Amino acid sequence: MVPKELPPAPYPAPTHSEAPEIEIVDHSSRIEELLARYQKCIGQDFAGYRNHVYRVLTYAMHFLEQDESVRSTVETALVYHDLGLWTAHDLAYLEPSEAKAREDAVRQDWGLDIETVVRAIHWHHKVTPYRGPDARVVNAVRRADWIDATQGMFRKGLSKDQVARVENAIPNEGFHDALQRLATEYGGSALRGNLRVLRRVFQL
Ligand SMILES: [Fe+2]
Repeated sequence: MVPKELPPAPYPAPTHSEAPEIEIVDHSSRIEELLARYQKCIGQDFAGYRNHVYRVLTYAMHFLEQDESVRSTVETALVYHDLGLWTAHDLAYLEPSEAKAREDAVRQDWGLDIETVVRAIHWHHKVTPYRGPDARVVNAVRRADWIDATQGMFRKGLSKDQVARVENAIPNEGFHDALQRLATEYGGSALRGNLRVLRRVFQL
């Protein structure tokens, strides 16, 4: 005989408050070592930039399923990805950031393919998916930076809970205020600065 109704499941259904896992990456000796050279130059924004690097690393390594073979490359690219903001004092800072990475790669023996590092820096603001060499790493960094730069307005497939977990674990430390301040300083006004970022950095 077939019962009219199935009995209730013997376990509670999952609720939305149960946030899916995301591995927080908030320390790397490579990042600390590479960033330390620029502490003086980054000045008051150092804690903010450092934590931005770790949040983006957390998202990127999540997309890359913690692939250890690319971790050092991603970490290195992230140290340099926005560095030109402080070294070149310009909103069009991608090329200056790449130049710093190339300069340091010559001076220090990173044991990495510098072209992959530079590609990850060069394409990290690209709005649409990058198609070209090293696409897996480049797109992981690109998607990860979009999430943090927009403070989760774009989540690139992550849930609100996952982004909130990362933001709580690795605090902002004034990073987005610093971006706004620099846009004003380098662009003449916040609005003009933002427009210049859109035109020159995002190439819209
Ligand atoms: Fe960034």
